[in-house]
Amino acid sequence: MKRRLFVTAALPYANAAFHIGHMMEYIQADIWVRFQRMRGNEVHFVCADDAHGAAIMIAAEKAGKSPQDFVAEIAAGRPQYFAGFHIGFDHWHSTDSIENTELSQDIYRKLRAADLIYTKPIEQFFDPVKNMFLPDRYVRGECPKCGAKEQYGDVCEVCGSVYAPTDLKNPYSVLSGAVPELRTSEHYFFRLSDPRCIEFLRHWTHDGKLQSEVENKAKEWLGTDDAATTLGDWDISRDAPYFGIPIPDAPGKYFYVWLDAPVGYLASFKAYCKIAGIDFEGFLQDPATEQIHFIGKDIIYFHTLFWPAMLKFAGAPYKVPDRIYVHGFITVTGEKMSKSRGTGISPLRYLQLGMNAEWLRYYIAAKLNSHVEDIDFNPDDFLARVNSDLIGKYVNIASRAAVFINKRFNGRVADGAEVTEHLLVRQLRTAGDEIAAMYDAREFGKAIRRTMELADSANAFIDAEKPWELAKRTDASDRLHTVCSVALEAFRLLTLYLKPVLPSTAATVEKFLGLPQPLAWNSIDQHLRHDHPIGIYSHLLTRVDPKLLDALFEPPAAATQDAPLPGGSAIADAISIDDFARIDLRIAKIINAEMVEGSDKLLRLTLDAGEGRYRNVFSGIKSAYDPRELVGKHTVLVANLAPRKMKFGISEGMVLAASHADEKQSPGLYLLDPHPGALPGMRVK
Ligand code: MSP
Ligand code: ZN
Repeated sequence: MKRRLFVTAALPYANAAFHIGHMMEYIQADIWVRFQRMRGNEVHFVCADDAHGAAIMIAAEKAGKSPQDFVAEIAAGRPQYFAGFHIGFDHWHSTDSIENTELSQDIYRKLRAADLIYTKPIEQFFDPVKNMFLPDRYVRGECPKCGAKEQYGDVCEVCGSVYAPTDLKNPYSVLSGAVPELRTSEHYFFRLSDPRCIEFLRHWTHDGKLQSEVENKAKEWLGTDDAATTLGDWDISRDAPYFGIPIPDAPGKYFYVWLDAPVGYLASFKAYCKIAGIDFEGFLQDPATEQIHFIGKDIIYFHTLFWPAMLKFAGAPYKVPDRIYVHGFITVTGEKMSKSRGTGISPLRYLQLGMNAEWLRYYIAAKLNSHVEDIDFNPDDFLARVNSDLIGKYVNIASRAAVFINKRFNGRVADGAEVTEHLLVRQLRTAGDEIAAMYDAREFGKAIRRTMELADSANAFIDAEKPWELAKRTDASDRLHTVCSVALEAFRLLTLYLKPVLPSTAATVEKFLGLPQPLAWNSIDQHLRHDHPIGIYSHLLTRVDPKLLDALFEPPAAATQDAPLPGGSAIADAISIDDFARIDLRIAKIINAEMVEGSDKLLRLTLDAGEGRYRNVFSGIKSAYDPRELVGKHTVLVANLAPRKMKFGISEGMVLAASHADEKQSPGLYLLDPHPGALPGMRVK
């Protein structure tokens, strides 16, 4: 039976570029989705930017932009990651969209009709300068317990005590510095403590659909008997000014960002349905449909309590999620990534260094399992894993067998029973169900280990048969043909099993092997055939060079940000201090500067570099400088640049100037000018 799957990854906050944690989540979900498609299932895989909330509103204001422009710029930076890491979302949307507004308001109205919404007045800090209520994080003051200064409104970082912002001594607003006032405002609440909700959630979280560790968390939150219930009602409103969705019939009130964020899953899917011609409501109401959310461990509460309850009591056409697949966090060499400090490794830098995305996909897959466990990115381990498994084991099989098929057999494999029923091939084929079950259960590490065991068997077979020796014998041609054909068929099956993880390599292999159809689970039995010649083997994957990993761990250069450098070009490859020392830079005084007849670019400079003689240097700075303003100034000369003969004479060096890589985009040219006191002939280093 074909499954109908609606799959999402968590919606990232639209206030920063992706970090390695986001990529890990997308890679996990993408591998699972690709696997399901290879099984012939119908899968729709969507995601979106989580655009709303006070934090984004304030960040946009700081950047001098409207929140809409601010999140649009973030959204524009997203596709390079998906293309780069082969993340195959069917659609990317935004929570700041018509679909999300309509759906959020519809769900709210239905919850209100079910008598699950009420209002009550709340006392909260208000910034009289900014004219807005302050989220806890935006109030600071002295810890009421230990007196430590500059503490946030919810927890003291010095003594660890937890309190309300109103407990702080000498509180002030982080936004304006003003002393906040206590004001009262009507807030809207979702009655999560309603017995109907509790009963539903106890059932929904305990019926075995959640990972056991997630189910245990939910049990803690929900309590087991009525008296012990600690679940409070949920404050779902925020007062204007707020970047969010207006609450119907409640002027000046907006949905708290966590109400409309998960609705964004549906909004993205709805927008996609329109493009793909799918009946959105019909799809959700089809009992066969499975709604599955991949998330990280920090947002379990929202996804196992609020979200299912919202959907359940809103009723048709909504359906409650079928699965919440929770993963742990990725650390980098054992260190937690900090969102604010931006540590860790940059996925964009990874790509800019020319590192292969499939190395990372493979490495992450090999470490993932179905539990909520953290995984670590360790460079030595990464290098060893990728090089020994992917290059040493997997690719090696094709490179050892393909040469002979091409050189000796005109690119055609043998396809008789001696190949298709060979023990090795049969062993590989039978493993298909087992590996499929592992992928389906998100036991990617197990699926990879099993596949690598099979690769070991294939290599052992080649080692034992020694095709390179068979090739030297005149009487062993058939044997050579069989051995290499068996090896290539094994390689085809290994590629099939790795395809969810290595989609790009698999596509190359499909071409190289001349397969009539893309590899899918039902092509396990469709062995390589004599009538489809293979192509010429060329390198499928290169080894990880340790130098790349060194470069990846260098302090992040500005070039790794989404925004282009003002210079317009990426930072060049690293050089050593010795490389740099070969360049002799000297302070030079401009004794004379004049136009060059017949050139609209050049100025002729006469320079004193403290050598007891003057140098003649032609410089392409005419567009930016009037020669008269240069005379008497100092600048920097590349003094050991080999003299160059030009149309107008010999140029004995080069002066340094700053410019944009693309002069059309930003035409300025700026000659370097040392601070006063630098004398001709001084070395610059
Ligand atoms: N906007 C919310 C989610 C709303 S879903 C309706 C959010 N955004 S986030 O950008 O902070 O995180 C997005 C996803 O990345 C979450 O699933 C989160 O758990 C995951 N990760 C964040 N850091 C991570 C790691 N270090 N490792 C793995 N996943 C991590 O939360
Ligand atoms: Zn304290």
